[in-house]
Amino acid sequence: MALIMTKQPQQPEIAVGGHAARRPVRSFVRRAGRLTDGQKRALHDLLPRYGAGESGHALDLARLFGNDQPVILEIGFGNGDATWRMAQAHPEHNFLGAEVHQPGIGRLLLALEREGIENVRVVCADAVELLRDRIAESALDGVRIFFPDPWPKKRHHKRRMINPEFVELLASRMKTGAILHLATDWAPYAEHMLNVLRGSRNFDNLAKAGGGSPRPEWRPRTKYEQRGERLGHPVIDLLFRRVAPAGGG
Ligand SMILES: C[S@@+](CC[C@H](N)C(=O)[O-])C[C@H]1O[C@@H](n2cnc3c(N)ncnc32)[C@H](O)[C@@H]1O
Repeated sequence: MALIMTKQPQQPEIAVGGHAARRPVRSFVRRAGRLTDGQKRALHDLLPRYGAGESGHALDLARLFGNDQPVILEIGFGNGDATWRMAQAHPEHNFLGAEVHQPGIGRLLLALEREGIENVRVVCADAVELLRDRIAESALDGVRIFFPDPWPKKRHHKRRMINPEFVELLASRMKTGAILHLATDWAPYAEHMLNVLRGSRNFDNLAKAGGGSPRPEWRPRTKYEQRGERLGHPVIDLLFRRVAPAGGG
């Protein structure tokens, strides 16, 4: 039987503003997650106070936080428990949290109100777009990405947040000397992260041997980390310093 071959697009296409555009490969899939009444109230009432808006103009971080303190970006904060604990322990820093999962955002907002925390602001958006469109060059004093989705299946590796392009975007938004802190409980992802970071001349591994670093005492254990521990996964912290490569860049 003869097969009629039709040309299939390699990636699905969507219409944006009347033009066909390639759908970007994202590091997350939007999950419908049920919101509690408290989380609904938080998103409605507290987001105007703690939020940075979902899109729009470049962020003026000093204005957003009301001071000039160093700003640390946490990407994919999940339920936000680590975020508010770090912020409470370090009032001399400002914490900008990016997350797309609404129940987690609602939960963090409730914690900020309950604990009376003032040095956290929340962005409900894809961190790639946030960095690309709203954060100025050399604006960040640190970036933390704790237990990003490991996307273990080979066909999903393209969704992994830590990839060469993203790491260069991060580098451009970080000050020289700023620390990029990654943690994962998925050893193959840790290897992948190390390979990507080794390929960047903008970062130096803080571990002399070039692998993982001891887990800093101040890092709170996260929900995903505890799940990994229950499954017997080793937890790996990777710390890198943003450096100015010889010859600029
Ligand atoms: C495996 S969970 C880890 C959550 C938390 N850090 C923890 O350790 O418990 C990864 C989180 O990253 C979020 N995420 C994935 N890609 C993201 C992106 N591009 N921008 C913002 N958040 C993202 C997901 O919604 C998810 O909540």
